[in-house]
Amino acid sequence: MPLLVDPALARGVLREIAQPRLVSDGLTLRPWRRSDAAAVWTAFDCPDIQRWHVRGLDSLDEAGDWVTQWADRWDDETAASWAVVDGDDQPLGQVGLRNISLAEGSASLSYWVTPDARGRAVAARSVDALSAWAFGPIGFNRLNVHHSTANTASCRVAERTGFRLEGTLRQAIKHADGWHDWHLHGRLHTDS
Ligand SMILES: CC(C)(COP(=O)(O)OP(=O)(O)OC[C@H]1O[C@@H](n2cnc3c(N)ncnc32)[C@H](O)[C@@H]1OP(=O)(O)O)[C@@H](O)C(=O)NCCC(=O)NCCS
Repeated sequence: MPLLVDPALARGVLREIAQPRLVSDGLTLRPWRRSDAAAVWTAFDCPDIQRWHVRGLDSLDEAGDWVTQWADRWDDETAASWAVVDGDDQPLGQVGLRNISLAEGSASLSYWVTPDARGRAVAARSVDALSAWAFGPIGFNRLNVHHSTANTASCRVAERTGFRLEGTLRQAIKHADGWHDWHLHGRLHTDS
């Protein structure tokens, strides 16, 4: 059945380029490496990361699988993730795109920051760098952030980075303690 509307982004827009390093505001977003497994394993020990991402890791090997999965997902153009590092190249956190739709030119943002690196706006600076690239050279039309209404820190990151609060989706996600309402924030490439 033919699509009657041109896709917003052409197939290959990601696959045909190498995943870039994005440098901005004292941080570098770089592709994950197998050698980052131990840092990811430690990060997922954080109860807040487990809580809000509803995921845990059972072993260092599983952390290794987590870091290596991103190459295939980049090639599939379904999701992407960057390690956020500063001077010593050790991961301070993660920022990425999920649920990429080339047809709609849209994706949802995901981010977490290791407990030791919090309090320095690492997530907001990373989201700014990723959004500039996604809206600029790649040409996404819309990026979303959703988070539980109980996750105030994530809400602040979205607000600080120009993702407007567009509504509340009732009982949109199940966490360990039950259903949570979701804030939906959005930013368009035409937003200032
Ligand atoms: C959300 C998260 C990435 C933010 O980390 P960060 O970049 O270090 O953010 P900061 O600590 O600099 O705080 C950002 C803002 O949130 C506020 N904040 C931080 N922790 C907070 C808390 N527990 N309650 C309320 N506000 C909080 C800060 O005061 C700051 O507000 P400001 O912008 O008005 O100054 C980090 O807390 C995290 O990894 N949490 C667990 C995983 C997660 O929630 N991911 C998002 C899922 S949607």
